[in-house]
Amino acid sequence: MNWFIETFRTSIGKKLLMAITGLGFLGFIAMHLMGNLTLFAGRDAFLAYVEALHGLEAFILVAEIGLLVFAIIHVFMGLTLYLANNNARKVRYAVQKSGGGRNIGSATMPYTGLVILLFLILHLNNFSFADVSDDRTIYEVVTATFASLGYVVIYLVAAVALAIHIRHGFWSLFQSLGLNHDKYMPAIRKIGIAFAVVVGAGFALIPIYLNLTV
Ligand code: HEM
Repeated sequence: MNWFIETFRTSIGKKLLMAITGLGFLGFIAMHLMGNLTLFAGRDAFLAYVEALHGLEAFILVAEIGLLVFAIIHVFMGLTLYLANNNARKVRYAVQKSGGGRNIGSATMPYTGLVILLFLILHLNNFSFADVSDDRTIYEVVTATFASLGYVVIYLVAAVALAIHIRHGFWSLFQSLGLNHDKYMPAIRKIGIAFAVVVGAGFALIPIYLNLTV
């Protein structure tokens, strides 16, 4: 057991945990986007999706607990790696100006991550913990939220931050899992960009569409 804990004290162990939890989030994001796309089909389609989801009570409970544990690990490890990186850079900068292995993608991860975290607190407060009834279902909660231009802008900022985070995170998680074969990396990089664009565009278009049409 000791070796297990010791592994996650190392920077490689921390990156491995970031990769595993990040992979879990990618799965959630893909499912969440697919479900939310029913909003384009109207009230009945969206409510049928939400009802079907809530029918899977045990699965949802396990998924919610899993997401929370993954989020705690991801944020904590990310913060630890960021602080360690910062300290290492201060030492390196005394010798040479540019530290190895950093680029715009990796350097913005803590900031896009922070934007996503702040967005999630607001999002869960608005939607997951909303008071719903037969007269005011989750559909009315969602459409009332996106009737506000301020919320549309917040969701657009979050969608862009999420796309930038995924663009680097996707590629990086394959590196951390040791699946960075020269032959496959260009393809993995392209798939990561495609995934980021689809997720960013999907989550951005929903609030814009509802603001303009409902
Ligand atoms: C157009 C954008 C989005 C819409 C319309 C939307 C809609 C919703 C709704 C309606 C719920 C509550 C589900 C329920 O309890 O029945 C929810 C929960 C949630 N959303 Fe979103 N969402 C959007 C974007 C996002 C994004 C970008 C993320 C992640 C970065 C996200 C993460 C979550 C999480 C973690 C939950 C809680 C899941 C749970 O409790 O089972 N959402 N969302």
